[in-house]
Amino acid sequence: MCGIIGYIGHDNATSILIAGLKRLEYRGYDSAGIAVIQNGQIEVRRSVGKLTNLEQALQQAPLYGNIGIGHTRWATHGKPSEQNAHPHRSNGVAIVHNGIIENYLTLKQRLQKEGFVFDSETDTEVIAHLLALHIRDGRSLHDAFLAATRELQGSYAIAGMYVGEPETLVATRSGCPLVIGRNEKAAFLASDVTPLLPHTHEVVFLEDGDIAVLTAQSTTITGAEGRVAERKSVRIDWDAEAAEKGGYPDFMLKEIHEQPQAILDTLRGRYSYETGEADLPDLGLTSQELLEAKRMWIVACGTSWHAGLVGKYLFEELIRKPVQVDIGSEFRYRQPMIQAGDLFIAISQSGETADTLAAVREARLRGARILSIVNVVGSTLARESDGVLYTRCGPEISVASTKAFTGQVVALYLLALHLGRIRQVLSLEDGRWWLDQFMALPSKVEHVLKREAEILSMAKRFYTMRNFLYLGRGINYPIALEGALKLKEISYIHAEGYAAGEMKHGPIALIDEDMPVVVLAPRDQLYEKTVNNLMEVKARKAPVIAFVSEGERELGALADFVFTIPSSHPLLSPIPFTVALQLFAYHVAILRQVDVDRPRNLAKSVTVE
Ligand code: AGP
Repeated sequence: MCGIIGYIGHDNATSILIAGLKRLEYRGYDSAGIAVIQNGQIEVRRSVGKLTNLEQALQQAPLYGNIGIGHTRWATHGKPSEQNAHPHRSNGVAIVHNGIIENYLTLKQRLQKEGFVFDSETDTEVIAHLLALHIRDGRSLHDAFLAATRELQGSYAIAGMYVGEPETLVATRSGCPLVIGRNEKAAFLASDVTPLLPHTHEVVFLEDGDIAVLTAQSTTITGAEGRVAERKSVRIDWDAEAAEKGGYPDFMLKEIHEQPQAILDTLRGRYSYETGEADLPDLGLTSQELLEAKRMWIVACGTSWHAGLVGKYLFEELIRKPVQVDIGSEFRYRQPMIQAGDLFIAISQSGETADTLAAVREARLRGARILSIVNVVGSTLARESDGVLYTRCGPEISVASTKAFTGQVVALYLLALHLGRIRQVLSLEDGRWWLDQFMALPSKVEHVLKREAEILSMAKRFYTMRNFLYLGRGINYPIALEGALKLKEISYIHAEGYAAGEMKHGPIALIDEDMPVVVLAPRDQLYEKTVNNLMEVKARKAPVIAFVSEGERELGALADFVFTIPSSHPLLSPIPFTVALQLFAYHVAILRQVDVDRPRNLAKSVTVE
């Protein structure tokens, strides 16, 4: 979604703002702009398209000022255009905004009656004029924010400045993320931590209703009532380089290869061999509360929803507990039968996905206990949950989620072990055995990564194809869905994931020599059935790409390409199988010369519904 950046200090704001916007590009955008206070005036530069266009505009007409705001826009109201790009201004005020102002039409009519002239189609512009109105009525910029936010309905993260207070940057949030930080000579704000990391590792995540007043020397935060609020800072150990590409051609390949480390980091310090248990002190829910839960729910979107489906197979098989899995945008509108005390698990990489957050709020209203599996420290989802199990994957910049997905599955393994031990369906020996399996996962992933060249040769054979079918059974049915999503979202090839047993109920009509079929066939109790599916596909002349457990010879004769995956317990097979499918999708997309980090139409964090 939109990205916000703000700076106030002793240096020229322009280069700092542009560098910050570059670190927010991954959020997806269609236009960008910055504003500074220069010679007592608000000066703005905005452009459609990539940031390079804005940089060219600044080369032709440079800006100099020690206070400024910047924005990358992902259009919601009004087409992508220079006129609709942020910052928006009014009578000496300039603001940038992420989110949606739901009552902007009412406010617009009122402000027009007050004599304000609008020149954009955006909802955002009402904020600039509303602040100007309150300043015209004699309020300071902070108090104008306080008054304006009482009238705004919807979701927002806003940063603003006013020529009458050229040493002050003000920011507020409700429903959209906003992070602030400072060093000895300047203060910074942004939509997420990445732009702040080159300047500081100590950050503060604003809470809904907070208003932050930043000067070069100080930061003051007031709460919803306007009283000073104490907000603790969080140390983010991601150094700025961690968000760079680290020698890889793009973030996606870097993040695929980071998975062994991400899995290890997510496991590290969260178990005890002595007790054969998971050790989850930040879970925030007592064993009693977990045992009391009559039903378990997992709700998420996109790739995170696929992780939730893996969780269903895991919990139902390992701890014999029924699990209802829902897509966030469905759960929130279907009058869910969730009851007080149910355990509601929300899974999200960003912790800012609007549909998932809305589902969480719906579940909380109905008395459920909220546990979130999330990657971003201090994100809205994390702060709205009773308990949090962080995936420690580091920043996931590429729009396509890879390491966050495997991190989510690992977090589910830890949770399953924890629940299995407290429910006493897993013994001490069981717990130790599963811990050994979990700790072997990084090396199994390494084994797949080392053979990337084999997957590249597969990709070279198939990257011109126009349709794919992915088939999986059991716990690898969600992996078939995930493999298909990865392919379609970065290569723009149509791909469908299907339960292998469902093929005969329709999709088999599609199969011919132009429809490659990817078959996931780990050595599990469904293996023979999957081999039968593969033979049905071969009979219809479709090319077959089979991912099988090491040692399987039978499929070698049947498939056009076979990639062997290190053997593991069937419940652990999703992780190495997924990594192989990530590499396949990646190399197909690269051969098709797609910008894998920023695929068209997609945003890293979908913060509006
Ligand atoms: C994943 O590759 C996609 N970019 C998308 O489906 C994503 O998983 C979904 O939008 C949910 O995002 P979240 O995990 O941040 O909630």
